[in-house]
Amino acid sequence: MALRRGDQVLKRLSPRISLLCSRLLAPEQSLLDRESSHGFATTSGNWQGASGRDDAADFGYKKVSREEKTTLVGEVFKNVAPSYDLMNDLMSGGMHRLWKDRFVKKLHPFVGMQHLDVAGGTGDIAFRVLDAIREQEPKQEQAAWGPRSSVVVCDINPAMLEVGKKRAQERGLGEASGLQWVEGNAEKLPFEDASFDTYSIVFGIRNVTDIEAALREAHRVLKPGGRFLCMEFSQVRSPTLRALYDAYSFSVIPVLGDVVARDRASYQYLVESIRKFPSQKKFASMIAAAGFQEVTYENLVAGAVAIHSGFKL
Ligand SMILES: C[S@@+](CC[C@H](N)C(=O)[O-])C[C@H]1O[C@@H](n2cnc3c(N)ncnc32)[C@H](O)[C@@H]1O
Repeated sequence: MALRRGDQVLKRLSPRISLLCSRLLAPEQSLLDRESSHGFATTSGNWQGASGRDDAADFGYKKVSREEKTTLVGEVFKNVAPSYDLMNDLMSGGMHRLWKDRFVKKLHPFVGMQHLDVAGGTGDIAFRVLDAIREQEPKQEQAAWGPRSSVVVCDINPAMLEVGKKRAQERGLGEASGLQWVEGNAEKLPFEDASFDTYSIVFGIRNVTDIEAALREAHRVLKPGGRFLCMEFSQVRSPTLRALYDAYSFSVIPVLGDVVARDRASYQYLVESIRKFPSQKKFASMIAAAGFQEVTYENLVAGAVAIHSGFKL
């Protein structure tokens, strides 16, 4: 059965795989040409808001207004939603699954936990957190009278949430599972102060226009003693590994996006946005500035991915 499904997926992808090979053998974009080439219509100008504050935001390598960035990021995730999970496996060779397992282990899910996963997209983190909680529930009867766990996925993009809800249905995770899906902006969360024990944001924060505002919101919605945990693409320190990583991401990922998802521009943005995200140290200082304490980070794959942690004490 699983084999037959695998055959069907391969059959569906085979014309795209041969197209991918031909594109990779003759890449359209030179590695040295790092100017943005995404196909989104953007305006350019001097981004000063009415208050005189610098109103510019990075959309990949392009400067756009803050409002425009939010709209463009919305378009990216609307476009990529149907192929998002498949593309994650292809781009990372399945490694994103191991990173997410490591992340959730670090979160230490517990029975009765109130967890918020912001920019939760198609539910990868939420499903893992729920699985980890369930493993600890010794018996159904005990869980019934014990504290009720809840996992809330909050994402700005309805298309990503729709894919997540469908996946939850396929896993039999209805409302009784404690899983909820909420449309909302990380910069202005639709939740009361001090509502959650833990807050996670995975490969989401670099897409947020006002990162400082999102960090302040994370602090606001956590209970005292609550934990903030973020996983994001970060900076590879070794120059040799960085060169290899750059070569891979700038030449392979946009082509994969073109061939598999028929959307080169969105994947070009995703690669560029990684390069514009602050370094591990700088991001740690931003987390501390939002009020978190005991701020630490752990590098995975030589710093290509980093997990940042902080506590509301
Ligand atoms: C790369 S996906 C990550 C999805 C999921 N966390 C995962 O790791 O598979 C980024 C997600 O961030 C969401 N996002 C972008 N800006 C956001 C914002 N301001 N507030 C909430 N979600 C946002 C996008 O809609 C998208 O679902």
